[in-house]
Amino acid sequence: MKRAWLGVVPALVIAVGFAVAPGKNCTKAVAVVHPAKGQAVSGVVKFEKSDGGTKVSWDLAGLTPGKHGFHIHEFGDCNCDDLKCTGGHFNPDGKKHGGPTAPERHAGDLGNIEADAKGMSKGEMVDKGITLSGDHSVVGRAVIVHAKEDDLTTDPTGNAGDRIASGVIGIAKEE
Ligand code: CU
Ligand code: ZN
Repeated sequence: MKRAWLGVVPALVIAVGFAVAPGKNCTKAVAVVHPAKGQAVSGVVKFEKSDGGTKVSWDLAGLTPGKHGFHIHEFGDCNCDDLKCTGGHFNPDGKKHGGPTAPERHAGDLGNIEADAKGMSKGEMVDKGITLSGDHSVVGRAVIVHAKEDDLTTDPTGNAGDRIASGVIGIAKEE
């Protein structure tokens, strides 16, 4: 009986080690985007650690043509109709709102995405404000698409209007 425990303890240590390691060294993450109540926006946003920062690529449909604010919000809680439960823009440094290349910006300020005449938006950017591990990690938070264009200036929202779609950012399998 006592012998059995000798095997269990190392097994537990290994199990805990594996459970923590992927989050700590996460290099790939994904968010499946769902529409807010009454909206039709859906798609996928992917995140990948890259040389110059974090590569963000998106493939979304169901938008109105034109620009839409695109942010990481603080909480990965999309359990409310208006998506206010995702909190404000992810802002670990207590900064003011700005565009993605501005020195003064929330970490979660990814600027805008632009939809074509069919309401589709597909593209990628490399962002220096967010990471997949550490203080600026977006894992477990929410990516949000807004009804309107982010003016890249108005604090703290960018005046981007309603939150029309969201996805919780989760750890993805590394290949
Ligand atoms: Cu937002
Ligand atoms: Zn912001």
